[in-house]
Amino acid sequence: MHGLFCLHEITSYLLLGFRQCAIDALTDMCNWLEVNGEVGVFDATNTTRERREEILDQCNERGFKTFFVESVCDHPNVIAANIAEVKLSSPDYKEMSKDEAIQDFLYRIKHYQDAYEPLDVDLDRNKSFIKVMNCGDRFLVNKVDGHIQSRIVYYLMNIHIMSRTIYLTRHGESELNLKGKIGGDSDLSENGRQYANALAKYLDSENLPDLKVWTSQLKRTIQTAAGVHAPLEQWKALNEIDAGVCDEMTYQEIQDKYPEEFALRDQDKYHYRYPKGESYQDLVARLEPVIMELERQKDVVVVCHQGVMRCLLAYFLDKGPNELPYLKCPLHTVLKLTPVAYGCRVESVSLNIDAVDTHRPKPAHVQPIKQEKRVRRN
Ligand code: G3H
Repeated sequence: MHGLFCLHEITSYLLLGFRQCAIDALTDMCNWLEVNGEVGVFDATNTTRERREEILDQCNERGFKTFFVESVCDHPNVIAANIAEVKLSSPDYKEMSKDEAIQDFLYRIKHYQDAYEPLDVDLDRNKSFIKVMNCGDRFLVNKVDGHIQSRIVYYLMNIHIMSRTIYLTRHGESELNLKGKIGGDSDLSENGRQYANALAKYLDSENLPDLKVWTSQLKRTIQTAAGVHAPLEQWKALNEIDAGVCDEMTYQEIQDKYPEEFALRDQDKYHYRYPKGESYQDLVARLEPVIMELERQKDVVVVCHQGVMRCLLAYFLDKGPNELPYLKCPLHTVLKLTPVAYGCRVESVSLNIDAVDTHRPKPAHVQPIKQEKRVRRN
């Protein structure tokens, strides 16, 4: 009896501790949202109605809308695949054999099953939620409230967990690259044409029968993809960042003609918008439909541009606005992305064709510009 009593005490103590951890994490998220964010993801099991009410109360109190996402997997094949592909590589199971880990995770599921109170169409009719059944076999959507929630629903209804590869590459070296000029719509250089051939051979060797190729509507990407044996689709949304009045100029020319603009861009490259052109932030918004469509596809090669490739890469590698505009995307190199649980594997494949270097690194010292001059137009 005494032993049981102690066990009960310890268990209650642990549960209190876990509950406090969950509340602290939720408070952290709300604090972050207040300062930085638009959307916070509170990733936890939240299997009981009581726990979900607590979340709702705290978020309401802080003035945030709550949208619940419940992922229900009850098909044995889905569970087995999830354990094999996701859980076995989790840090929890680093020290365990595969069989021990599977056994442990099945116990964990059993434990959650005992306490699990699913979202219920009647009892939870006033909550905003989506239930995703067996990784997208079916969905139940309730009381979607506003633009962001409907984007989340759209996103969740379009992603899949089938294995696939996304190949990102820039166009081959262009005539304007040779002159150090940005933007424009020039043809490929001789090196660029060699890259186009090498890319077609490389993709043939990858042997992907359902591969698709996407390009921008600019000549240099279309010429680069011309030899690839796959159905081709052109996207205006994949066109390079619009440099506005600075289009077809070298960095030196921009600095000489628009010194203030040049310094402003160095100060905050992500938000800086070229006069009559775009910022990286604009580009990210323009690329949203491309990213959504990429999520729906299997194997795709995207032949694009330096600025565009940075944005796509930042999405898959979860890079923020400070890093994004400086990500290295050299010419004549394919980045092979394989989405895996909690991230994306990246392999950089150089096709060994000479090219100029177009990367302008972040300057060590940035000339400060007065605040009022930072108000952007357009
Ligand atoms: O403007 C075209 C460039 O490819 C983008 O490079 O943003 O580093 O200037 P940048």
